[in-house]
Amino acid sequence: MSRPAAVDGARLLRSLADFAAIGATPAGGVNRQALSIEDRRARRLLAERAWGRGFSVFQDEAANLFIRREGVHVDLPPLLIGSHLDSQPTGGRFDGALGTLSAFEVLEALDDAGVSTARPVEVVAFTNEEGSRYAPGCMGSMAFAGVHAVSAWHEVMAPDGTRLEEDLAATLKALPEAVMRHARPDILAFIELHIEQGPVLERETVPIGAVTAVQGTKWLEVTFTGQAAHAGTTPREFRKDAMAAAANAIAELQATVMAADPQSRLTVGRLTLQPGSVNVIPEQVTFTIDLRHPDGAALAVLEALVRKTCAIAGERWGCTAAIGLLLDMASGVFDSTLVDAIETACRSRKIACRRMTSGAFHDALFVNRIAPSAMLFVPCRNGVSHNEAEFVEDRHVLLGAEALLELTLNLAGRRTASEN
Ligand code: GLV
Ligand code: MN
Ligand code: MN
Repeated sequence: MSRPAAVDGARLLRSLADFAAIGATPAGGVNRQALSIEDRRARRLLAERAWGRGFSVFQDEAANLFIRREGVHVDLPPLLIGSHLDSQPTGGRFDGALGTLSAFEVLEALDDAGVSTARPVEVVAFTNEEGSRYAPGCMGSMAFAGVHAVSAWHEVMAPDGTRLEEDLAATLKALPEAVMRHARPDILAFIELHIEQGPVLERETVPIGAVTAVQGTKWLEVTFTGQAAHAGTTPREFRKDAMAAAANAIAELQATVMAADPQSRLTVGRLTLQPGSVNVIPEQVTFTIDLRHPDGAALAVLEALVRKTCAIAGERWGCTAAIGLLLDMASGVFDSTLVDAIETACRSRKIACRRMTSGAFHDALFVNRIAPSAMLFVPCRNGVSHNEAEFVEDRHVLLGAEALLELTLNLAGRRTASEN
């Protein structure tokens, strides 16, 4: 006998706290970067909870983790729900974890109520969405969508010098009981619940965003190379100062790009220099530029502007400028039927919902290339994310999970009377 499936709010909040303890930082955030020991511990905890429920656990070559609750029709492509478990180095408790754990709560809620779905439902935790330890982000979902072979990233290095191939192998080995999936299964659709990471929903006091599109992103890595020389004795005309070139280029771009086009975003988030001594003119400076724009053509224009500005700054300071493209994510538009379905699910649960676009990239952007995908957002305090202070009110956690449960039932198919 089944009864209506219902989210167990206390259990979901406990689960968020349990996972926030893995990689917890003193400031109340999380450092659980992709393929780290902490990431492996989080994956194990989720897998063990799944086995405890009798669900099946799979991983693929990108270490994407899948938890499957069988449907009445085992051969039908499953509905995929979930997000990621990795975090930024000073990340919050909700970015990624909220969507993954809410998806798992949906499976538990179905199970508790004895509700069968016509189709199987799978929860996924994609590998390395953030791209902080190993760039680019969304590696797991890109591999899943066939955009990139995992092996193409084997030589990518973490800042501490570890090769991705080693960490990937260790991560897979840390969960030997999970069944290895060598081929991607067909899926019906993918739904990702996530925090908004911006201020719109909170400002408008709307608890759910139905995401229609994701803007495009490019990550560039700029290296200026000059010549190390004495800080005190080298006159201006002899200086090949890589830091001066970098400072010049960064200041110029920061002053002009976003002022000229309020839709554009430019961030220099990482900078390293060599040799890094107080009285040595830096020989080499490397920094990243995260560029975003909803319009692909405008994003290409921005990339060209960055390249030109860096070339001019390099020339001014006698340095060479080398620019690599670490990530190139085209914007994407989600499946309109699924966006409608999110609105319908919210309406039937009497949860207010508004359409919106995403300034952040997400795994759903890539899964959308192989199967209809869409996202639900919930508000976060002051729109702050990628920050240890990231916070989501309990009531919004619960409303998000409730909407996801309703949507899951609608998409995976409530069991028909004849199948009882
Ligand atoms: C995702 O983490 C992003 O940077 O948009
Ligand atoms: Mn995320
Ligand atoms: Mn993130």
